[in-house]
Amino acid sequence: MIPDRLADICARAYRHMAPWDATAFEAALAQDTTQLTCTEHAFVLAQVVLDEAEIQALAADPDFQRKGEASRALRNCIDRLTQRGVTRIFLEVAAKNTPARGFYARHNFTQAGIRKGYYRLSAQETDDAIIMTREIA
Ligand SMILES: CC(C)(COP(=O)(O)OP(=O)(O)OC[C@H]1O[C@@H](n2cnc3c(N)ncnc32)[C@H](O)[C@@H]1OP(=O)(O)O)[C@@H](O)C(=O)NCCC(=O)NCCS
Repeated sequence: MIPDRLADICARAYRHMAPWDATAFEAALAQDTTQLTCTEHAFVLAQVVLDEAEIQALAADPDFQRKGEASRALRNCIDRLTQRGVTRIFLEVAAKNTPARGFYARHNFTQAGIRKGYYRLSAQETDDAIIMTREIA
């Protein structure tokens, strides 16, 4: 997928945090530590450092959600990470992002920590960041 398509999916899918724009995707894709894994309608963008990876962005096109698209993208991502020698994945997800938390739980990620008030939603409202992890080796 090209940065414009990734940004379009993000802009329509993200509800709980600011979506990445095309410039942010271009910058990430210029780094050789970035691994992008796509299906037709979903993607996972991970940063790889030695034997650890962090999922930095993941989304499915809202017109194709609950059809297993993001699950396929994540499984393919994990297969590729395993081949590169990665043994553990981390990510941060907004506490109020029920769909994403359900998704990650379904894929055997468990809570490893919490950052209170990490996301600022408005002048008055914040949300916690839940740190999740999964061993893959
Ligand atoms: C989270 C997201 C990627 C899931 O994409 P998807 O293609 O719909 O996911 P799948 O169809 O593979 O769903 C697999 C499982 O995830 C869980 N899940 C997915 N959407 C869910 C929802 N709205 N509520 C609760 N659980 C959900 C379910 O367990 C689901 O299995 P089921 O359909 O058999 O019940 C999608 O909702 C999305 O793009 N959200 C916005 C972006 C975002 O918040 N990304 C995470 C940033 S950390």
